[in-house]
Amino acid sequence: MEYTLTIIKPHAVRDNKAIAMLSMIAEAGFRIAAMKMIRLSSFRAGEFYAEHAGKPFCEQLVKMMSSGPIIVAILSKDHAVRDLRSLVGNTDPEKADPGTMRKIFGNSIRENAIHASDGVEKALKECSFFFSEMERFSF
Ligand code: CMP
Repeated sequence: MEYTLTIIKPHAVRDNKAIAMLSMIAEAGFRIAAMKMIRLSSFRAGEFYAEHAGKPFCEQLVKMMSSGPIIVAILSKDHAVRDLRSLVGNTDPEKADPGTMRKIFGNSIRENAIHASDGVEKALKECSFFFSEMERFSF
């Protein structure tokens, strides 16, 4: 069993796409081990995306990620990290394969609807960034 972190981004929550997105995730065989709806401050959004600090898109990314509520969840499954990346698709919805979540729900490379951890170690860090031990379960 492996864990990964996902974020349904503010524009997708605002456009009421979250239920459809969570259904797609459940149908792909993921269990929800933790979940909450929160709003990030721009400081916390900057911390989460620290690896992108200094990149040309970083300021707008932080602004977008702190612009409204997000739904953040820990998902479990065998090969959860790899399988969620594959379900989510290319960062750029225009380049994403048909049937992937970013193709279906994304608006642009910035407003790409959903985040998925990009490695097993990274997933552990990202899960701890959002959730305490009391908030996560061993599903
Ligand atoms: P995510 O998987 O959450 O990881 C970093 C985010 O930065 C990415 O999804 C996009 O929302 C955003 N991003 C990555 N590359 C670009 C880009 N070239 N222009 C604008 N936003 C980007």
